Amino acid sequence: MSASKQTILSVEHLKKYFQTASGQLHAVDDVNFTLAKGETLGVVGESGCGKSTLGRTILRLHEPTDGKVIFDGKDVTACSKQEMKKLREDMQIIFQDPFASINPRMTVSQTIAEPLLIQGKYKPGDKEALNRHVRQVMDRVGLAQRLVNAYPHELDGGRRQRIGIGRALALEPKFIVCDEPVSALDVSIQAQILNLMQDIQEEMGLTYLFITHDLSVVKHLSNQIMVMYLGQVVEICDAKQLFRAPVHPYTKALLSAIPIPDPRVKMNKIPLKDELSSPINPKPGCRFAKRCPYATPECTAGDIPLCEVEPGHSVACIKAAQFKDAMA
Ligand SMILES: Nc1ncnc2c1ncn2[C@@H]1O[C@H](COP(=O)(O)OP(=O)(O)O)[C@@H](O)[C@H]1O
Ligand SMILES: [Mg+2]
Repeated sequence: MSASKQTILSVEHLKKYFQTASGQLHAVDDVNFTLAKGETLGVVGESGCGKSTLGRTILRLHEPTDGKVIFDGKDVTACSKQEMKKLREDMQIIFQDPFASINPRMTVSQTIAEPLLIQGKYKPGDKEALNRHVRQVMDRVGLAQRLVNAYPHELDGGRRQRIGIGRALALEPKFIVCDEPVSALDVSIQAQILNLMQDIQEEMGLTYLFITHDLSVVKHLSNQIMVMYLGQVVEICDAKQLFRAPVHPYTKALLSAIPIPDPRVKMNKIPLKDELSSPINPKPGCRFAKRCPYATPECTAGDIPLCEVEPGHSVACIKAAQFKDAMA
């Protein structure tokens, strides 16, 4: 990260474990990263690898088991309820399914107005000012004013997601966790929503943690990409570098599954053995070893730390240096 960039979010040794009937599930297990103001960190990995839990724990929608989240100089993990409520104005979330954040019995304007009322931005008598604010937000997210009294079920998926985005933007936050915001949408609408999110980011100087299981979605949107596997980070680097020269065998397998629309490029799809398991009472060592075509007994002998293979590019694999040299 260059000196001119200002860190807005720093996540340190963050852990979130769930107690389940079969044991302790390590959904997020010692995750570390920093995020610069105005930038996007793409978080990718298969379903169940802990992406949503990470996003929610950063926002303290889940209480962390251990570790720290520092946002804009404040220790989020140490905030009181009252301080957390204030911080909500700056830290928001957009969900994959807008119905998760939208009450089906509330109209577009009621949904966008709700966070403003909860935070006490308008008194009940300030109806006109509140309505003006809601209409501005609707304009910003491309919702026609005639929809102001529409209910979510009357709208298509793209418009519903625009409400979800509007609701998250209403308080003019600094940071948004975008949890698979386009995964439920048709491909043609995905592009519209992604463009909207990018425009808004530039205009408002927003910082995004952009979660997706689909690497092609974050390719053009992210400054950095972090690849997760069963609660842990296996690779993190500049987005272009990740696509140009991935090092971790898991990242390579994920990338090889994206169709390349260039007939000159030979597709070498790396098959992944078995299904993703759950990280319940995980054993030491690389969690990907069971599925890795290159695994040797050393891979499961002890925990594998994330190590820098070049400036700004870290990989958790004991063979990282060897894989990197093989590509040079
Ligand atoms: N509230 C919960 N209680 C118990 N286990 C959970 C809970 N939420 C998530 N998990 C488990 O944590 C792991 C990570 O889930 P999640 O963060 O939703 O993954 P992703 O968003 O990458 O699909 C999964 O094994 C999931 O079953
Ligand atoms: Mg998820």
